[in-house]
Amino acid sequence: MKQFIAALPKVELHLHIEGTLEPELMFALAKRNGISLPYADVAALATAYDFHNLQSFLDLYYQGAAVLQTEQDFFDLTWAYLVRCHEQHVVHTEVFFDPQTHLVRGIDMGTVVGGITAALDKAEQQWGISSCLILCFLRHLSEADALATLEAAIPYLDKIQGVGLDSSEVGNPPSKFVQVFARARALGLKAVAHAGEEGPASYIWEALDQLQVCRVDHGVRSTDDPRLIARLAEEQIPLTVCPLSNTRLKVFDQMADHSILRLLDQDVCVTVNSDDPAYFGGYMQENFEALAKDLKASKEQLRQLALNGVQASWMPSLRKKRLI
Ligand code: ADE
Ligand code: ZN
Repeated sequence: MKQFIAALPKVELHLHIEGTLEPELMFALAKRNGISLPYADVAALATAYDFHNLQSFLDLYYQGAAVLQTEQDFFDLTWAYLVRCHEQHVVHTEVFFDPQTHLVRGIDMGTVVGGITAALDKAEQQWGISSCLILCFLRHLSEADALATLEAAIPYLDKIQGVGLDSSEVGNPPSKFVQVFARARALGLKAVAHAGEEGPASYIWEALDQLQVCRVDHGVRSTDDPRLIARLAEEQIPLTVCPLSNTRLKVFDQMADHSILRLLDQDVCVTVNSDDPAYFGGYMQENFEALAKDLKASKEQLRQLALNGVQASWMPSLRKKRLI
């Protein structure tokens, strides 16, 4: 099964680049930038990765991102992730970044976008891995802050294909960001949003109807609402599901409880993704393997999940056809 998964051409649609910061690189960048981390070593840091919900993870994730300072840091971070993509036969990836995490520390948009896209371009040239870049707004901050962030990104829009919405979900519904998403769409950007990870199914409706997203990130709480499931299936609105993330953040107690195969059975376009692989114990290969091992997913189901990723992606239709 491992070999079967390794040989599948995989597409990743839900990946936070700051969530690919492995402990070793975090320490190396901290040293390079003269930053002290509140952990003695890599092993001490790794023991802190024991999360009980989304917020307990986000607190560590934002703390870790503080070691990212220069364009070279963003390049090195992104390149390390793309090496994993190459090793795991990920042929296309749509990468989230959280500019507000960096802007607030005095790092400019050009440094962040420049470093990330230099690595994405190199991976395309060297290995043919295609990619998109998605600017995420932090939903625990105000809509005014998100609007200012979008304005700061305008000089770089030739390198950014879409906007997203992430961070602390409960209490920060999609409806808080209607204006900034309307502005982003008017600028020609595509839209996605995290919804229904910890938040209720009503947030998924809001993301669809008020933000006009073309995909929902996570969306697993859709199973609480049969009308929503019917709509997702009817309109083939993709869900970017992240199995290892969901168990690490206790969205599901254990992988055996995960709803991804039930959603697949109900004809929802579910896809497999790694979210924040450095924090959740695995990249794409390990996420697929977990479904095979703990959910007893068949080869046919795994193949369908990988094909859904191709379908749900923003790659040109000719490239899609070659992969299907
Ligand atoms: N930022 C990084 N990972 C996230 C997740 N799983 N949910 C919300 N915001 C995030
Ligand atoms: Zn996410």
